Amino acid sequence: MGNNDQHHARREYAGGAMSRAELHEDPFQQFTTWLQQVIDFGSKDATAMTLATADADGAPSARTVLLKQHSANGFVWFTDSRSRKGHELSVNPRAELLFYWRDLDRQVRARGPVEALPPGEADAYFQSRPPGSRFSTAASEQTSVIASREVLESRVAALRAEYPHGNVPRPEAWIGYRLRPYSFEFWQGRENRLHDRFRYLLEDGRWRIDRLSP
Ligand SMILES: Cc1cc2nc3c(=O)[nH]c(=O)nc-3n(C[C@H](O)[C@H](O)[C@H](O)COP(=O)(O)O)c2cc1C
Repeated sequence: MGNNDQHHARREYAGGAMSRAELHEDPFQQFTTWLQQVIDFGSKDATAMTLATADADGAPSARTVLLKQHSANGFVWFTDSRSRKGHELSVNPRAELLFYWRDLDRQVRARGPVEALPPGEADAYFQSRPPGSRFSTAASEQTSVIASREVLESRVAALRAEYPHGNVPRPEAWIGYRLRPYSFEFWQGRENRLHDRFRYLLEDGRWRIDRLSP
């Protein structure tokens, strides 16, 4: 104890190999294949991703959010636009997403411009959430300072009394965002740290694929 040396945690990465021939030409299909494999493996939080943004001065910040939709149009998450990430995306609408799938020794990065989705999409997703989550979201102005947990709990209680049927409205600021990648990177851990890495770059409407040094 009291020792910050992490060498005891050293381990081999032998989750499999990734060859150029096996890659999908379309990175979205490659992503979908990998995500499904992580889900099938039974990993917890397969859809948890790190969202990295930066403020107007370029100072970065990162946090975890959950992937809620993905398609050839991009990756969607929901959040409070009054939060730090919301402010950063409004002044600098670009980001990187990162998935770390420990059980399969894999990492995926996707970067690109970010757009706010129309309110109707947030309504549809908000209505699909369990009532408890809807009340918590409605009671919280994300990332604002609060005096105590009791403040939050009493707001939830007041909302529950006001909306006994659970139909609390979506806070206007709680919206969806979509990142449309122009670049992906897929990383597969291999033995002796000689890992496989492939980058997809969108060039003139086509995905160019390169192997990167690990
Ligand atoms: C596993 C996990 C999933 C999370 N999912 C979300 C999410 O989908 N949306 C969200 O707004 N915050 C989510 N959070 C909380 C964020 O990480 C973060 O604390 C919050 O969004 C405020 O970030 P900001 O102040 O940098 O904007 C999640 C946290 C964890 C650990």
